[in-house]
Amino acid sequence: MIRATDIIVDLQYGDCGKGKIAHALCTTKDYTHVLRYNGGGNAGHTIFHKGQKFVTHHIPAGVFAGIKSVIGPGCVLNPEKFFEEIKSLEAGGINAREMVRVANNTHVITQAHLDEDGKDVKVGTTRQGNGPAYRDKYARTGVRAESLPELKPYLVDLYDEWFEGGDVRILAEGAQGFGLDIDWGEYPYVTSSHCTVGGVILNGVPYSSVRDVWGVAKMYETYVGKKEFQPKDNPVFDKIAEVGEEYGATTGRRRQCNWMSMQLLEHAIRINGITDVVFNKVDVLRSVGEWAVIDKGSIVPFKSEADMKAFVVDRLVKLGIKQEKVLFSENKDGF
Ligand code: IMP
Ligand code: MG
Repeated sequence: MIRATDIIVDLQYGDCGKGKIAHALCTTKDYTHVLRYNGGGNAGHTIFHKGQKFVTHHIPAGVFAGIKSVIGPGCVLNPEKFFEEIKSLEAGGINAREMVRVANNTHVITQAHLDEDGKDVKVGTTRQGNGPAYRDKYARTGVRAESLPELKPYLVDLYDEWFEGGDVRILAEGAQGFGLDIDWGEYPYVTSSHCTVGGVILNGVPYSSVRDVWGVAKMYETYVGKKEFQPKDNPVFDKIAEVGEEYGATTGRRRQCNWMSMQLLEHAIRINGITDVVFNKVDVLRSVGEWAVIDKGSIVPFKSEADMKAFVVDRLVKLGIKQEKVLFSENKDGF
């Protein structure tokens, strides 16, 4: 029986530091499961664990805290990539074979999907076969994990896992972000999955089990893909990219940067029913020495970090978020 579900969603375009928050929550709360609920090999987590650097794409950060980690049917899975990750985690002393599971009904990314996505020029995808795999799932021509013999040791029936095996407390950790959501992002510059709380529920998680919903953002925005995003008239954004080390974990592409949009943030907070917000990388704007947001199409500059924080907190409080539930975090610390 599911006793509680806490959720982490990204309020912007991915890469806001969900993995860090997941790691912090996993080590302070007693979850029985971490659930990856959307996306495929397009995501990338960079995690420093006991002095070693790990990059995972499919496997959620919970595995580093020794918690059973499930890849749910909201995801698409590249088996080759999955086995590489298992191997590298095992080599790093993490018992991934024991802890990682894949739902029977998760769809698989095939070589044909990878080949097709490799030719993308329109969206600027990560070329990991994501879009074609989801398309085939919905066209009912896809392949599910349960039909791959090599995945057999990892497969679970998620109904049994959630409801037939004692108390379950889930941390749901997704991929990408609100601005890339298939429905709420700027179509077609989106990914092919559901990046909101709605996407969690689709993995057999009853809405009534949801407890805390953590929204993760950065103090500025980054986006990777084909649309024009970074303003050309201000060198500050190149500085932010450099100081913030804004390069993708999956593709190595330089992320485009801009000030944070208050409207994107507000929409993401309301649609996800956020209870707690973390703004990451506060130290990046501090090093750059400039602060601003975009509000209703206009740039609103601030003289200091404190002024920007006060403005943002005030707006979130107006949306019903409790002031003490808005946290600001440095690039490197746990919270
Ligand atoms: P796809 O998900 O690979 O199909 O790519 C669709 C869009 O989402 C592209 O703009 C990608 O750059 C973006 N995207 C996909 N995954 C991530 C991610 O983990 N972080 C940031 N952007 C992503
Ligand atoms: Mg990432």
